[in-house]
Amino acid sequence: MAELTNISLARGAPSLDIVAVDELKLSAQRAFDADPNGAFAYGTSAGYTRLLEWLSKKHSVAPDRLLATNGSMQADAFLFQELVGPGDLVVVEAPTYDRTLLSLTKLGAEVFPIPLEADGLDVGALQVALEAGARPKLAHVIPNFQNPAGCTLSLEKRHLLVELARKYGFTIFEDDPYVELRFEGEQHPRMLELDEGGETVVYASSFSKTVCPGIRVGYLVGPKQLIASIRKRATETYISPNMVAQAIVAEFCNSGAIERSIATVKAALLERRDATCAALGRHLPDARFVIPEGGYFLWVDLPEGSDVAALERGAAERGVVFVKGTDFLIEGGESSLRFAYSAVPPDQIEEGIARVAEAYRELAATAA
Ligand SMILES: Cc1ncc(COP(=O)(O)O)c(C=O)c1O
Repeated sequence: MAELTNISLARGAPSLDIVAVDELKLSAQRAFDADPNGAFAYGTSAGYTRLLEWLSKKHSVAPDRLLATNGSMQADAFLFQELVGPGDLVVVEAPTYDRTLLSLTKLGAEVFPIPLEADGLDVGALQVALEAGARPKLAHVIPNFQNPAGCTLSLEKRHLLVELARKYGFTIFEDDPYVELRFEGEQHPRMLELDEGGETVVYASSFSKTVCPGIRVGYLVGPKQLIASIRKRATETYISPNMVAQAIVAEFCNSGAIERSIATVKAALLERRDATCAALGRHLPDARFVIPEGGYFLWVDLPEGSDVAALERGAAERGVVFVKGTDFLIEGGESSLRFAYSAVPPDQIEEGIARVAEAYRELAATAA
């Protein structure tokens, strides 16, 4: 029998063909020629100056409200360490990014899951909880093309969430690595931009999805005092982030290569998203899903009672992997799963989903 090609619908990462390798080489060359002192020295914990300048312009914030980190994961970790202690109530989306759940649980936080709707966090449900006396310290929200659900927070909900955070005195952590990857529909303003005074929202984003994940460059925007305190923590952690990587990214941004890279990534992702939806329609008509308007992920709900853990095994026997819904939730998700279409060409998506569907039919037949 011919060997099956392995197909991963699990990994939230781009395939190499959509990484701008040649432009990165040129950016590295130019960055090293233009500013060897900056690129090869330790630097400060705030990050590489030219990158901070670019970010300061992009977000219209003073440079002392910024910190560039080794991936936004590091920014998330610093923020959680700074703000969250044992017993603190932290609102998370249900489902949410599995690493967020891990970080918060490790810090001893009391995780407070609020369900997602097709237009993002159920802010109404949060409001009811707040009116009933819940007092979270922080709310973690992935507003665009959410990981894992693919949905986007509506404009109305963004306004309401900022208003609730002000009224009840909690911080919104806007974790936004996918924002630039919108391939259709209207871009909503960041909550960071809706937060007049700049004291309520802390914003993180990343170059992992617009440049490449291996470069490990992300950043945080927040109130000046908080950023100062996180900069101190960063110095104690690693002296300074990776200046070589940040110098390359700064050049990549300043030269305009980033715009071309984003265009390439978006065109490929749109094709992959369409292939995923079409394949689900063809092979797995029981699947229910919200069509993502951008990003990497599509969340599938199968009929209640479907055993996705068994489906995962059946799919793995056929050379296909995805992530089970339960990985993204404290409770529930047994009949749901996440497909990441970011790393897979359309023909393999079709083949991968056909194999998952075959495993699904086999399970249904055994259960009958
Ligand atoms: C919601 C969310 N936050 C943070 C990260 C971490 O990204 P980075 O590569 O910038 O560390 C990811 C990565 O997939 C993510 O999905």
